[in-house]
Amino acid sequence: MAQQSRFWNRHAKGYAKRPVADEASYQNKLAVTRGYLNLDMEVLEFGCGTGTTALTLAPLVRHIRAIDISAKMLEIARAKVESAGIGNVTFEQSGIDDLNAPDAAYDAVMGHSILHLLDDKEAVIAEVYRMLKPGGVFVSSTACLGGTMPVLRVILPIGRFFGLLPLVKFFTAAELERNLTDAGFQIDHRWQPEKDKAVFIVAKKV
Ligand SMILES: C[S@@+](CC[C@H](N)C(=O)[O-])C[C@H]1O[C@@H](n2cnc3c(N)ncnc32)[C@H](O)[C@@H]1O
Repeated sequence: MAQQSRFWNRHAKGYAKRPVADEASYQNKLAVTRGYLNLDMEVLEFGCGTGTTALTLAPLVRHIRAIDISAKMLEIARAKVESAGIGNVTFEQSGIDDLNAPDAAYDAVMGHSILHLLDDKEAVIAEVYRMLKPGGVFVSSTACLGGTMPVLRVILPIGRFFGLLPLVKFFTAAELERNLTDAGFQIDHRWQPEKDKAVFIVAKKV
């Protein structure tokens, strides 16, 4: 975990400066997400990065608890929220793997560009299920690299060894969907803009 947070601390400024890779798809994901939110909702976002999504969706919900392991990412996120005058987002430095949250605490949980970076995504998915209220939704967007470009399986671990890349896990979209349904979720919405792009899933706790 320390190695991961060091990596993201080093890359926080650059990450904040880079425009969203596929703005049209991002906007579509936000539009779909908005359809699941309302002003009574308590929301958790993990791996919130520099806070762009939390900031955008905050006016639609009661409160967002946004967590990330990187202090530098959170520094940028806090500055953005402050200058936007948004008062209902709380940023915390924490890993999703060791977050202390009671059962059924959240109406919605978001995790974007993060499930493939986790050591044990199945355990995290089970935790998200536990933290959600019945009927609550888990909204995620994930790079599913299993089955694409086998050369990445060589390049990514080498890059990680030299501290140039984070831990990246390989799995397919079908595997991710199976993990979600095995945990008890029902897939409510699934969208992949194009082959090899991140898979956007809204999974409901039934
Ligand atoms: C690729 S960035 C995604 C940021 C943001 N969600 C987005 O879509 O722009 C991944 C983020 O997850 C954070 N992260 C990595 N492992 C984490 C963990 N176990 N728990 C919480 N955050 C984590 C990193 O610090 C980084 O800010």
